[in-house]
Amino acid sequence: MSNQTAFENFLNEHDEEAWSATLTTLLRTIHDVDRNATQIWFSFYPLSLFQALTNSDDSETLAQRLLLQGKFYLKDQIDTSHTFLYGHRFWPEIKSAVQKHAASFVGDGTSLSDQVLKVAAETAKALKVDQSLLAGITAVAFMTLQQTGSAAFNTPGKVSIDKKHTRLSPEQVLRERAKDDSQGLLGFLRTVNKKWTVTHDENDDRATYVMNNIQDLAWGAAEDRSRNWREIDARRGEGPIPVECRSASCGTCWVGVLGGAEKLSDVAAREGKKIKEFGYIDTNETKPLIRLACQAQTHGAVSIVIPPWNGVFGKYIRAQKAAVEEQPSAVADSPATANDQSH
Ligand code: FES
Repeated sequence: MSNQTAFENFLNEHDEEAWSATLTTLLRTIHDVDRNATQIWFSFYPLSLFQALTNSDDSETLAQRLLLQGKFYLKDQIDTSHTFLYGHRFWPEIKSAVQKHAASFVGDGTSLSDQVLKVAAETAKALKVDQSLLAGITAVAFMTLQQTGSAAFNTPGKVSIDKKHTRLSPEQVLRERAKDDSQGLLGFLRTVNKKWTVTHDENDDRATYVMNNIQDLAWGAAEDRSRNWREIDARRGEGPIPVECRSASCGTCWVGVLGGAEKLSDVAAREGKKIKEFGYIDTNETKPLIRLACQAQTHGAVSIVIPPWNGVFGKYIRAQKAAVEEQPSAVADSPATANDQSH
């Protein structure tokens, strides 16, 4: 702890709840093109899970107990975890601006949200782009620094999407997301045999599959044999979306919904209960931005993001929090709380 910078110490004063309040404040200034994407990113990389692993005496055993699979540490993907944000195309400049901000940080009482907005505004001015396009990616950079530490974060940033996609305007991206498939001249007469396109990586023109009306997202994905998905991600046994149980029991198939959340079925009682237990999102919304692909059925074209990991940690984090609140000096990773997870 002692070799942390003043800025890291400042960031570490902010827990998941403080970040959640910061994000709520920032959302007002984040451009439409990145409002969902920013919220999805923060769901994909929860601070509470990172802290639980870091504070554990044996993070490997804890990761196994929480059934974590895939790439759940940000340190392994500092420059790539956020390619689905429009702001990713400004990552090198934002990363460098955050590094400078951290190096010159003097705790003058400025709030976390105001510091994010200051860095975003200054970089926007230098790049001659609207600040709203940088607010989300700047918040992502702050959180990435908090979870990785400055030693890992202080390298030059890279853009990981191709030139064709970096040239798209925010309006073009939003228009593309809002599009629905034409069902042909007599499409309005069709009911069951309508077809919809699911885009699962907006920066890759081949990353789409077509599914039938009212099919769940995972079912449609399983029919996509266009690539060797397992080679790309060992969790992808059938198509681009990792699945195991197909019954809202394992949490493998979670996805973020960048566009078209309103075209998915309402969250049913089981999906709503299980997604909280897994730890992915804590909401009672009927059309949230995080869904279980094996449960969410679509009646329109949607754009989704597939996270690089999955796990079951909601119960564990809640038990840990309760233990700390009850007894502030409690050892966070006590066997009693850890064992709680298995029930
Ligand atoms: S595949 Fe298990 S929860 Fe969807």
